Amino acid sequence: MTKPLPPEAGRDALQAFLREGSPLGPLKVMAKYVGRFFQIPMQVFHPYIVFGPEANRKVLVTERDKVLWRNTDPVTDLLHDGVLIVDGKEHDHYRGLMEPALHPSTLPGYTPLILAHTEKVSHQWKDGEVVDMLVESRKIALLIIMDTLFSKDVWDDIPHIWKPILKAIEYISPGAWILWRKIPRPGFRKPLQQLDAYLFGIIDERRKTKEKKHDLLQHLIDARLSDQVIRDQMLTMMIAGHDTSTALLAWVFALLGQHPEVHHRLVQEVDTLEKSPLLDQVIKEALRLYPPIHIGNRRIAEDLEFTEGTIPAGERLFYSIYLTHHDESIWENAEDFQPERFAHGRKTPPFSYVPFGGGPRACIGAAFGQAEARLVIAFLLKNYSFEFTQHPIHPHMGATLEPRPGVKMKVTKRIKT
Ligand code: HEM
Repeated sequence: MTKPLPPEAGRDALQAFLREGSPLGPLKVMAKYVGRFFQIPMQVFHPYIVFGPEANRKVLVTERDKVLWRNTDPVTDLLHDGVLIVDGKEHDHYRGLMEPALHPSTLPGYTPLILAHTEKVSHQWKDGEVVDMLVESRKIALLIIMDTLFSKDVWDDIPHIWKPILKAIEYISPGAWILWRKIPRPGFRKPLQQLDAYLFGIIDERRKTKEKKHDLLQHLIDARLSDQVIRDQMLTMMIAGHDTSTALLAWVFALLGQHPEVHHRLVQEVDTLEKSPLLDQVIKEALRLYPPIHIGNRRIAEDLEFTEGTIPAGERLFYSIYLTHHDESIWENAEDFQPERFAHGRKTPPFSYVPFGGGPRACIGAAFGQAEARLVIAFLLKNYSFEFTQHPIHPHMGATLEPRPGVKMKVTKRIKT
């Protein structure tokens, strides 16, 4: 049992929904009235939500054996046996195979590709044109993930795979299927088949080539995995590895647009310093305010006790990264963009900042994602001026937390003096 909701909570939740345009507002209202442990009061879908350092540690580390990553939702339907949604030995096997390609020592080797793809995308911009940084960030992140992990330059294929990829992301985003699991979902079969055909084509091409590549795809092939399981891991990495980075990059540009003073200081720093501390802080603060993965999704395998109550086996559990990052008792002025809060190391308790989850199943691409963001943002700020068009932006709960309706910025090539 969770604490009962007072009558005014419903009204406040509705107002928050209308004001913020997403379920994040109502979640904050629930957290305010009921605390760090509550259940969504709906008939068909009634997951438990927990947040805060103690709960995060429990779910991610100390009691993780009592929860399962594998669920019965469209993510499982799409990714089948992808490392993100399998448990136990199967998970550890796939994760072990993938770790070398994402180990911090491997990352410097990716720098030339990361910069080349950023250059290629930005080179298309016309001087003075207004571009949507949500779209441009996706192009950059997609090119990077496919080339670094699978040695596949998808530049020429973008027109062909763009829509199937967006459909795959839409397929796993929250929707009416939450309330009605078997709801007909027309319009997905064909694009998802196209995406599969594309990935199987890459695997097939690699199996036939004599040239030995040293990338993640080769590693999966050499490990004698079946084409189907390789496809599952590729699709997992393709989506988990680019949709998140897309959101992060887009949020950074949105926040810079909304905070011209920080934007100005950051441009000065990337122009003059090899490694900008402010850039690091801006990325960290963007990940705090708008964590691309804002919840972790689990199924309870064994009754799980929290200070506030017990979640019975079989129930759904979300640990909320977003609510943890917006908790005023942890973060001073939690709703404000203050990159300098990260200037002097960690000041908040362990498990209070979890943009990449935590424990043995923390994000495998955490170092990759941050290194990529640093390189892409520094390159773009050094080479282009960005002028925000001052339109409203709200966080949209899709597969990731995205700035909607996009981040429209006027871009101008900077003249080097
Ligand atoms: C800004 C970028 C990123 C963010 C914010 C992010 C966030 C996360 C989070 C929060 C989790 C844990 C979810 C949970 O506990 O349920 C996770 C897991 C994962 N991420 Fe990321 N991620 C990012 C980039 C990447 C990249 C670049 C890759 C691949 C190259 C990647 C691949 C994965 C995979 C495979 C997992 C599952 C790991 C496992 O279960 O063992 N992510 N990510």
